[in-house]
Amino acid sequence: MRQMRMTDELRSLGRSGVAEAEAADDLATLDAVRVAYLGKKGSLTAVLRGLGSLPSEERPEVGRVANEVRAELESAIDARRAELAAKALEERVAAEAVDVTLPGRRRPAGHVHLIDQVVREIVDIFVGLGYRVASGPEVELDWYNFTALNTPPDHPARSLQDTFYVKDLSGDRAAVAGESDVVLRTHTSPVQVRVMESAKPPIYIVAPGRCYRRDIPDPSHTPQFNQIEGLVVDEGITFGDLKGTLEHFVREMFGADRRTRIRPHFFGFTEPSAEVDVSCGICGGHGCRFCKGTGWLEILGCGMVDPNVFGYAGVDAERYTGFAFGMGAERIAALRHDIPDLRVFLESDVRFLRQF
Ligand code: PHE
Repeated sequence: MRQMRMTDELRSLGRSGVAEAEAADDLATLDAVRVAYLGKKGSLTAVLRGLGSLPSEERPEVGRVANEVRAELESAIDARRAELAAKALEERVAAEAVDVTLPGRRRPAGHVHLIDQVVREIVDIFVGLGYRVASGPEVELDWYNFTALNTPPDHPARSLQDTFYVKDLSGDRAAVAGESDVVLRTHTSPVQVRVMESAKPPIYIVAPGRCYRRDIPDPSHTPQFNQIEGLVVDEGITFGDLKGTLEHFVREMFGADRRTRIRPHFFGFTEPSAEVDVSCGICGGHGCRFCKGTGWLEILGCGMVDPNVFGYAGVDAERYTGFAFGMGAERIAALRHDIPDLRVFLESDVRFLRQF
């Protein structure tokens, strides 16, 4: 009777344990079930502990059933654990899945800014004629930017209105008229002097670079812009060489159908000096709004190197002659692509830049 009760109790305990294990929704709950039945203070453990107080003839049968129930419960728990682990793995795989068949996300590839494209094109034309590329600092000494270019201290270009002065940290006292003698270069022409100081003729160079002037931005002025300087120093260089070189450049840059014209002009560092115009590409030279009715568009300044500049730069003016020119990259880009406002080059609006 007692034996009956014990084994029934064990079996019913086993059934409820198996049911609870099968119903466990996660590993923590399942472990709690294991502890509740099979742990040190578990209900099945308590029954097994009570075996000792049974009469000896009942013990084997009750012990057999108890072991059977424990084995069943353990295997139910193990099976459920495996199920839950498989489910967890499945969920993780689903959550972390990468669909390798999806097309890749394309990052928009940038490209060279229109101004740099134009600078490279211009430089390439002169490299094709055998010129080398030179460069100089954007933060320049007053000496190279003005004085050595035959532009004396009282020249208006040196005024605070026209030039950005930089605080002179060199500690030297050679400031001009009490001002700093360090400037943001106003043109690339100081590279002429630096090259002549450091190289012996024959010199054939182009020098692209950024320049700065205190201009209020408007359609045809920006306080920062790019120039390409050219310098040739050799024996027997004439104004004819300058003219032929620039005509070749214009044809390469703007096309064979464009005409050029050279007008007298003044620059302190060239003598004689000139400006070069190219015939308007929009009206073909008849006159329109783009060329302000003249049929011509100014593209550069040039001239024969002034012997005074040779003197400052240490070149023998008796033996050598030379020419120089300087052009604005923004201006040339604008003329090339009929862009009416130079400010767009500095605005980084990709809707504009993407077109080139
Ligand atoms: N540096 C001049 C300017 O910025 C251009 C120039 C260069 C003129 C070389 C003559 C010779 O306007």
